[in-house]
Amino acid sequence: MPRLHLGFLASHGGSNMQAIIDNVKSNLIDAELCCVVSNNSSSFALERAAKEGIPAFHISDKTHPGNCTDQIINTMKSHNVDTIVLAGYMKMVDARLINSFNGRVLNIHPALLPKFGGHGMYGINVHKAVIEAKETISGATIHLVDSEYDRGRILAQIQVPVFPDDSPETLAERVLQGEHQLYSNTLKHIADGLIII
Ligand code: GRF
Repeated sequence: MPRLHLGFLASHGGSNMQAIIDNVKSNLIDAELCCVVSNNSSSFALERAAKEGIPAFHISDKTHPGNCTDQIINTMKSHNVDTIVLAGYMKMVDARLINSFNGRVLNIHPALLPKFGGHGMYGINVHKAVIEAKETISGATIHLVDSEYDRGRILAQIQVPVFPDDSPETLAERVLQGEHQLYSNTLKHIADGLIII
C-alpha cells in the first residue's frame, strides 16, 4: 500500500502537480494519486488530471454555494486522500478542511518565507518584490497550511540565484524549475519518514 494518498487543489497550470505526478509514476515518491480538485473549470490542472486518468472535479463557491468546503472534504475523503497538496491554489483554505486532514495540508510559495509572504504576495507580485528589494537569492518554500497566509510550519526550502538583469518573469521561471524539484523531494521525504507532519 502506498505510504501517501495525495489529493491536489490547483487553480491554474498545475506544473508543480505534473512534476509530482511524474515522480510518483516513476516510483520516486511512494504515493497514490487519488484526485484533483480545482475551483477553475478551465484550469489546465483539470486537463492534466484527465489525461493522467486521475479523478478530477470542479468545485467552487459557484458550483457549491454555501458548502464548497464540505464538498471538497467529502470528495477528498471519498477518494481516500490523507495528504492535501496545494499546487497553485488561489483560494484561502478553510480551517475545517485543514482539521479534517489533521493538518496534513501542504503549500508551495515561490519565495524564501518568512520573507515575501502574506496577503497580496502571489504570482508575479512575489518576484517583483524580490527584485525591488535587491535580493541576490530567492527560492521556494514548502510549508504546512494554517489559517494565515504563508505562515504555517516550514518543511523545506530551495534557493535560486537572482541575477542583476533578471525581470520578474525570468526569475519566476527559474524559481518554478526549483519548485518542481522541491515539491517532489519534500513529498518523498515525508513518504520515507524523513520529514514528519
Ligand atoms: C507556483 O509558483 C507556486 O509557488 C504558487 O503558484 C504557482 C503554481 O504554478 N503557489 P503551477 O500551477 O504549479 O504551474
